[in-house]
Order: sequence, then C-alpha cells, then structure tokens
Amino acid sequence: MANRLSFSVPILLTTLLCMTVTCFNEDQTVLLQFKAHIASNPLNVWPYNWSSATSVCHWTGISCGINGRTALNLPNMNLYGTILPSLGKLSLLSALNVSGNSFHGHLPSELANLQLLELMDLSHNELSGGIPPWFGNLTKLQ
Ligand SMILES: *[C@@H]1O[C@H](CO)[C@@H](O)[C@H](O)[C@H]1NC(C)=O
Ligand SMILES: *[C@@H]1O[C@H](CO)[C@@H](O)[C@H](O)[C@H]1NC(C)=O
Ligand SMILES: *[C@@H]1O[C@H](CO)[C@@H](O)[C@H](O)[C@H]1NC(C)=O
Repeated sequence: MANRLSFSVPILLTTLLCMTVTCFNEDQTVLLQFKAHIASNPLNVWPYNWSSATSVCHWTGISCGINGRTALNLPNMNLYGTILPSLGKLSLLSALNVSGNSFHGHLPSELANLQLLELMDLSHNELSGGIPPWFGNLTKLQ
C-alpha cells in the first residue's frame, strides 16, 4: 500500500502541475529557442512580444486551452527560419499554423512526437523533402 502510494502521488502531482504551470514553462524554453532561430524579413527582428517575463499564453500567436493544450499560429508573418527539432517537445501542441512564411530546410522527424496535433499547416513556405513517412504517426491530424 505504502509503495503504491509513493508511486501514484508523484504521477498525480505531475498531472496537476502539467495542467497549470510546469508544462507551459517547458514550452516557454522550447518556444524561445524556436524564436532564436527565426528572423523576420527584411528587418531581422522578432516582431512579437515573446518574453520569458510572461506566460506563453500571453504571447502573440500562442493560445492556451483546456488541459494545457497549446496552439501556435503564426501564418503570413514574413518569418524566415527553420522548424527546430525541439518543437517536438511541445507534447500538448494541438495546432501548428505557420503557413505563408519562409521556413526552409527539412521537417524534423521529432515532430512525430506531437501526438495531440490535430491541425498542421506548413503550406506556402520553402520547406524541402516533401511529406515525410512519419506523418502517418500523427494520428489525430485532420
Ligand atoms: C502580446 O500581444 C498580443 C496581441 O498580439 C496581446 O493580446 C497580448 O496581451 C500581449 N502580451 C503581452 C504580455 O503584452
Ligand atoms: C512512427 O511510428 C512507428 C511505429 O510505431 C515507429 O516505429 C517510428 O519510430 C515512428 N517514427 C517516428 C519518427 O517517431
Ligand atoms: C492557417 O492560417 C491561414 C491564415 O490565417 C488560413 O488561411 C489557413 O486556413 C490556416 N490553416 C488551417 C489548416 O486552418
């Protein structure tokens, strides 16, 4: 009994924290890395209010929903950069729309970890490599 409790309490705590603060903090680190690899043409300045001082939920282009679900919407923003493999760590990401920018390079296979992703729009960028085979792993994708 005691053993069982010592296992279930940390799991419960993780779940509770995930629904409030911790998960978003983790997302903040990943998203600030993403930002650091993006430039906005032609000014080369990140044009949005993404700052470690505020929760990601208050950042331009990010919305936070129930159960910690997040959405990243930056379409037609004149952004130039690569899709970082670490975006695959945004395990609660349910939507990703960066269509109409200048993202280039290959889609990292780490994105296959985004198991809650229901919407992904990468159209009208300069990505290479076509649709990768692991796309089928994103089972919720519409
Ligand atoms: C960032 O800008 C958005 C509008 O794009 C606004 O809704 C949000 O409150 C701003 N966040 C902060 C922390 O200023
Ligand atoms: C996709 O799913 C298959 C089967 O579960 C797994 O073997 C493969 O490693 C996954 N691919 C990626 C990139 O995670
Ligand atoms: C992504 O955003 C663009 C611009 O707002 C919109 O036209 C497009 O329908 C969105 N993609 C999806 C799959 O919703």
